[in-house]
Amino acid sequence: MDLVIKGGTVVTAADHYQADLGVQDGRIVHIGSDLAGRQVVDATGCLVFPGFVDAHVHLSLPVGGLVSTDDFRTGTIAAACGGTTTIIDFISPERGQSLREATDLRRAEADGQAVVDYTLHQTAVDAEPRTLRELVSLASEGYTSLKLYTTYAAEMVDDAAMLHLLEVARDHGIVPLVHTENHAAIEHLKARFLAEGKVEPHYHPLSRPPTVEAEAAYRVITLAGLVGCPVIIAHLTCRETLAAVERAQQAGQAVYAEVTPNHLLLDDELYDLPDFEGAKFVLSPPLRDRSHQAPLWRALARGTLAMVSTDHCPWTFADQKQRGRRDFTRIPNGAPGIETRVPLLYSEGVGKGRLSLHRFVDACATTPARLYGLFPRKGTIAVGSDADLVIFDPDQEVILSHATLHQNVDYCPFEGWTVRGYPRTVIVRGQIVVQDGEFIGPAGWGQFLARQPFNW
Ligand code: URP
Ligand code: ZN
Ligand code: ZN
Repeated sequence: MDLVIKGGTVVTAADHYQADLGVQDGRIVHIGSDLAGRQVVDATGCLVFPGFVDAHVHLSLPVGGLVSTDDFRTGTIAAACGGTTTIIDFISPERGQSLREATDLRRAEADGQAVVDYTLHQTAVDAEPRTLRELVSLASEGYTSLKLYTTYAAEMVDDAAMLHLLEVARDHGIVPLVHTENHAAIEHLKARFLAEGKVEPHYHPLSRPPTVEAEAAYRVITLAGLVGCPVIIAHLTCRETLAAVERAQQAGQAVYAEVTPNHLLLDDELYDLPDFEGAKFVLSPPLRDRSHQAPLWRALARGTLAMVSTDHCPWTFADQKQRGRRDFTRIPNGAPGIETRVPLLYSEGVGKGRLSLHRFVDACATTPARLYGLFPRKGTIAVGSDADLVIFDPDQEVILSHATLHQNVDYCPFEGWTVRGYPRTVIVRGQIVVQDGEFIGPAGWGQFLARQPFNW
């Protein structure tokens, strides 16, 4: 065998056991004991996880003349260092642009640059006949998910377009992931605050309160239910949206939801930091007050919240975030996180008794792989699966800091936090890409992943 991982505790969403793993031609070919191979990695004392899957990242995202600061090379190096071996980014068509053309442009940015495996969600900004046709043909090429927005002027679709798009998605095994916030309400509240001279980051969460998110989520869930299409609610942040998701799930509807580490662990008091530092946390939907966090953790533990993604979307504080110094509505939305998701969820989740070890693997690897047509190639440790593996030292303590992380941005939302448990060795398709916290893999090692149709 090419590679053997010896002496670790293998952990999947379902079980854990002591075993050696044998790897040949980038796949797991043997799970047993006393295995021998050309290269041996000693995992004694470590947990061996499947490579983690981050199903919501924005690398080189253009917004209003700015571009998010991690590209497919730097962003995937950071992902790998944090234990993530598969990412899903987005095809981002402009209004009027062909989805096919936007796909080709995005692939040109990613191909040969990414160092972990990658794929892209389609995005539809209209329901014109050309878009519907392209949606279907791209699905047949393995782009089997679709991002929709109910806000952001450049991307949002109205309810009529949403219904058409959901029908096409339903008929072609495409799973929709929807950013749900009520656009009119946000615009109304933003305009009122600005007219009153209320321009600081403090007003960002007040212009997008929980009910604004929950109303749109309820509406999207209702529309998906009407046409019988499964739906994933993106970056759910609050009890109000949770209630809408829970109610639909209890009624038997195929509704799933993702949550981010930011909304599990950070709160809206950060918007009041001095010296405009609140701008670092301007992301949408915004951070909520602390009382939402325990319900989110409980919902994640029991599976009401299906998975954890980062929504990684970094903008520099020193430069790009300053655009909104005198007007919070001009602060580019988003924050970094692609590198810190796994250590934070292990340390704050498993380490603090909020998540079982298996549910942690499930939420950060197995469920995103299943929802997005990558399982069992990705998201688990099994004979035949890709040898994407994270050898994780459960006792290593790391103080998170932008100075030592690999994300290409000048701050970390979790600056100074201590995490216990960190990836020691990260393997993508049998290739060691990270050793002792540093990227050592080949340039452009990542492969594009054509995905299966949705089949939960
Ligand atoms: O603030 C955020 N989340 N920016 C990235 C785009 C999105 O809404 O996911
Ligand atoms: Zn979003
Ligand atoms: Zn996003």
